Amino acid sequence: MKRLRQRPSDPLPPGDDHPVKRPTSGEPAPDIRELRARLAEAEETLRAIHSGEVDAIVTTGKNGPQVFTLEGAEHPYRVLIESMSEGALTLATDTTILYANQCFARMVKCPLEQVTGSAFRRFLSATDGAALRLLDKQAANAGAKIQVHLLACDGSRLPVQISLRPLARKGANGAALAMVVTDMTEARRTEEMLRTLTNRVVQAQEAERRHVALELHDHITQLVCAMLFRSQTLANRLSDHEGTLKQEAITLREMLGRTAEEVERISSGLRPGVLEELGLAAMLRATTMEFAERTGVSIKLSCAPLPARLPADTELTLYSILQEALKNVEQHARARHVTVRLTKRDADVQLMIHDDGIGFDAEHHPTPRKGNGGLGLLSMGERAIHSGGALEVKSVRRAGRAKSGTTIEVRIPLGS
Ligand SMILES: Nc1ncnc2c1ncn2[C@@H]1O[C@H](COP(=O)(O)OP(=O)(O)OP(=O)(O)O)[C@@H](O)[C@H]1O
Ligand SMILES: [Mg+2]
Repeated sequence: MKRLRQRPSDPLPPGDDHPVKRPTSGEPAPDIRELRARLAEAEETLRAIHSGEVDAIVTTGKNGPQVFTLEGAEHPYRVLIESMSEGALTLATDTTILYANQCFARMVKCPLEQVTGSAFRRFLSATDGAALRLLDKQAANAGAKIQVHLLACDGSRLPVQISLRPLARKGANGAALAMVVTDMTEARRTEEMLRTLTNRVVQAQEAERRHVALELHDHITQLVCAMLFRSQTLANRLSDHEGTLKQEAITLREMLGRTAEEVERISSGLRPGVLEELGLAAMLRATTMEFAERTGVSIKLSCAPLPARLPADTELTLYSILQEALKNVEQHARARHVTVRLTKRDADVQLMIHDDGIGFDAEHHPTPRKGNGGLGLLSMGERAIHSGGALEVKSVRRAGRAKSGTTIEVRIPLGS
């Protein structure tokens, strides 16, 4: 219930046009003292409204005294909050729900009368409750957000995002915290769809690579080998008298030999079959050596002895991430040294690729979702998640004398 409290300085006697006397015709204009008094009074009124000391304001206008109650002022906000498609609450310091809108009651599938007055933690699991308490402390001076699950009265769970805003001054009813609760079901579904889609893109990419590798190996390499053989025959048949022609045939044979090697290198880089045959450590060695030879960037590889062969899927994930990371080093980093480390940590296998290049803003790097980025980092992350692990990208941009570079770290549980 609202209390109508009049300020003591506004007794408003009948017939009086308090708080400020309006000059009647013939009276002199208000002097400076009167103006100062009016100003002070206006300031005092504003302060009282601001601090919540008054529930109503009485003014004197042309049509006589008018009362503006706070309840009246609150009305549009109440309508707004009730029509929101998000839950809105105010809580006391001990998290008792002082006010909740209908939308929140619908979210927790509980009658509003039962929601108001109950403890907010009733709608959270113990873990989520603890996380929220922690956030509440951190959010002492600013708003904060957390994603949790609401436990509804029928036992169902609803993914939500809670935005917290501590109230600078506790309201008359003791409200210490305001909350907006957003239903994340749709957002989660979209995220899941996007993940599935990206996963499909990665798998399609994998199938395509395998296809290209086979085409290269079965057709192009065969053809190049046949040409190599023919050019060798040609070179052998040409007599030494035909010096220039013979030299041309020999050069042609050498070029074809190099082409066959290059095609085989590209083909084996694309073919997971080679990985299956040689194992991860051998592939990491071959890939890093080839990278150093081709690019001139020095590379240091260390492989911890792993218990046994890792699951094929894990090996492929780690190998693909190395390939993608090295491709980025070559294309973007301008690095001089690269370190690759394969280790076992607790129950995880971990691959770290570090370069001392120019670095980039890993927090805000353009993503394909925004339509302006490549696929490399995204596919690395998706591959890691697909294998039950996680990928972390840390990068320091070249600024002044600060050490710059990029580190990609992927961890995959050994049991996955
Ligand atoms: N090691 C690195 N050093 C410096 N910048 C990097 C590094 N790795 C990634 N980047 C930056 O991050 C961006 C995104 O990388 P990502 O691999 O996702 O896409 P891309 O390399 O541009 O394209 P794609 O991988 O599809 O060929 C790059 O364009 C580059 O600006
Ligand atoms: Mg890339």
